[in-house]
Amino acid sequence: MDELTQLIESAKADFAAAQQPAALEDAKARYIGKTGAVTMLMKELGKLPADQKRARGQAINAAKQAIEAALNERREAIANAALEAKLAAEAIDVTLPGRSGHTGGIHPVMRTWMRIEEIFRSIGFDVADGPEIESDWFSFTALNNPPNHPARSMQDTFYVDRQDGNGMQLPLRPHTSPMQVRYARTHTPPIKVIAPGRTYRVDSDATHSPMFHQVEGLWIGENISFTDLKGVYADFLRRFFETDDLVVRFRPSYFPFTEPSVEVDMAFTTGPKKGRWLEISGAGEVHPNVIRNFGLDPEKYIGFAFGSGLERLTMLRYGIDDLRLFFEGDLRFLRQFN
Ligand code: PHE
Repeated sequence: MDELTQLIESAKADFAAAQQPAALEDAKARYIGKTGAVTMLMKELGKLPADQKRARGQAINAAKQAIEAALNERREAIANAALEAKLAAEAIDVTLPGRSGHTGGIHPVMRTWMRIEEIFRSIGFDVADGPEIESDWFSFTALNNPPNHPARSMQDTFYVDRQDGNGMQLPLRPHTSPMQVRYARTHTPPIKVIAPGRTYRVDSDATHSPMFHQVEGLWIGENISFTDLKGVYADFLRRFFETDDLVVRFRPSYFPFTEPSVEVDMAFTTGPKKGRWLEISGAGEVHPNVIRNFGLDPEKYIGFAFGSGLERLTMLRYGIDDLRLFFEGDLRFLRQFN
């Protein structure tokens, strides 16, 4: 093997040994860099006799070209290997089964809320919403509660640490009835509205939660009687429970804001709960003093109001016996409704 062929072979071996671009450039310098072996041979050309120069020059050039070709080939191979390694490191296994997203569900009390809105909308009721931090006036005074009424007491009602313009501490509304007043004062009769929402009372056991839901109903016109209350409410229950197999009873009771006042009880006439009376709502004809606080003339306007517990309706509909299940967030319970 002549000197030039040896040089080419040696360069190829060095290039092959280089694993990184920097090592490859070092190897290149040893052969075709400024002081590289091939470059040195070129410089020595001048010392040769004229008749040998041409052939020797061509041979050295050919060797240089062979080395450059080997260098470029190796450069490409190193770059390709780097790319392969990068792709392998970032590889996504597209054959892995996907992680499915979690589908949310609707809380059973919320289902009741939505059903009630749907039923009352279908018979021409508006749906209204109002503040949970209420004033004393809307919560009690406007609803004909005397100043010393026990509902105002700290034992029954939660208060926030803030006062209104009259120096009265602000309650968390203990019922949705303030919405009767808020709505009636901003609308003209006939007034037909329900107001579902959260309510708060100092109460906590298997059938009471400090936060619960009510739906207020109000229908005021020139001749809306107790008969209308009976018809509307009984019809609502039949649609809500999707059965005609139930009976409704209006039992005399007392609320400051209605006269006469009743508790509405219902019982199923078939099924496992047959014959058991359950209280589901307060109701009555709106008291003339409250009509006056609506800004209306009680000689002209009359109508009914009711306030029903959404948890109670939900428990009856699904046969749930502990109200606390609604607020624990246990997915085993909640998934049954979705
Ligand atoms: N606000 C009453 C309660 O929470 C229910 C009610 C509403 C009664 C409307 C009569 C009329 O107990």
